[in-house]
Amino acid sequence: MSQPITDTFGRKHTYLRISLTDKCNLRCTYCMPQEDMQFMPSKWLMQADEIQTLAGIFVDMGVEKIRLTGGEPLIRKDASQIIRNLGSLSTSLTLTTNAVFVDQFIDDLKNAGVRSLNVSLDTLNEQSFKNITKRDHFGKTLDSIRLLISEGFVVKINMVVMRGVNDEEVNDFVRLTLDEPNLHVRFIEFMPFNGNKWDMSKIVSYNDLLADIGTQFSFKKLQGELHDTAHNFQVNGGKGTFGIIGTVTHPFCSGCNRIRLTADGKLKNCLFDTTEADLLTPLRRGEDVSSLIYSHFHKKHFAHGGHIDFTEKNAREDYEQNRRMISIGG
Ligand code: 5AD
Ligand code: SF4
Repeated sequence: MSQPITDTFGRKHTYLRISLTDKCNLRCTYCMPQEDMQFMPSKWLMQADEIQTLAGIFVDMGVEKIRLTGGEPLIRKDASQIIRNLGSLSTSLTLTTNAVFVDQFIDDLKNAGVRSLNVSLDTLNEQSFKNITKRDHFGKTLDSIRLLISEGFVVKINMVVMRGVNDEEVNDFVRLTLDEPNLHVRFIEFMPFNGNKWDMSKIVSYNDLLADIGTQFSFKKLQGELHDTAHNFQVNGGKGTFGIIGTVTHPFCSGCNRIRLTADGKLKNCLFDTTEADLLTPLRRGEDVSSLIYSHFHKKHFAHGGHIDFTEKNAREDYEQNRRMISIGG
């Protein structure tokens, strides 16, 4: 076993998020620009065997959990193969998906030991789904969530809460958790990325969310763990839970254990850090990539990729330098 991936703040990085593609069958407004979206040419993408080799290197450095993200990870033609390959590693495996194609992968997911999936769903209203995602897959998404639960998976719904878009539905989402122990809802503060028209005023903050939920439910806070991104709660008498990922107003950088690998094989030490280390090119040349990994994490900033406070006036221009969310991997 190799040395763990640590940074100068003593954080150990044990959670690898691999983006399989920057393409998606949906067009969520908060994730990608509405016009002029160019996707990576496929020869830039890591191939299934390259993903497996890199994942193996990270596992040897102490990675314990791998998450596949996108874009939408399940639109890759070789998604089954990749899931099967990664299932053979000694880590836990999970996915973030919009769930539209999940019915074709139930057996692969089970065979690879996947127990829990994060599913993006921002509204329970068909028209609003179409406004947010620009696609008509509302019914299919709901069916997929039901299918996953009936097949015994734990489903964590990710809802990006945006003022004036879907904030009126927060309590409807909380209600979903009352009777279903395998359903968890996480409300995510809207984050700034290239091309997503972010504005501080569109954020519904952690405090605002709790105040809103408090008008309809009584709930308790659950015990958290170091690496948690969400503060988790449970409605009294409810079976599932709800959480708030307050990236902007309640940052969780101090416990960060996350490593990101983009679909074109670039290593990111933070969602908001614009510097990247190319692992795929040296890997294709047959070179050792471990020293690149260690040195990139030695440069990791304490919080938000070294960027100034999100609330600063010029924050938006700063984040425009970063990749689009869809090409980082949520
Ligand atoms: N702010 C917050 N979360 C986002 N996601 C994508 N874009 C944003 C954003 N701007 C999250 C969504 C989705 C996952 C892929 O990334 O929750 O589920
Ligand atoms: Fe696709 Fe997820 Fe981005 Fe929506 S948020 S466009 S489902 S990757």
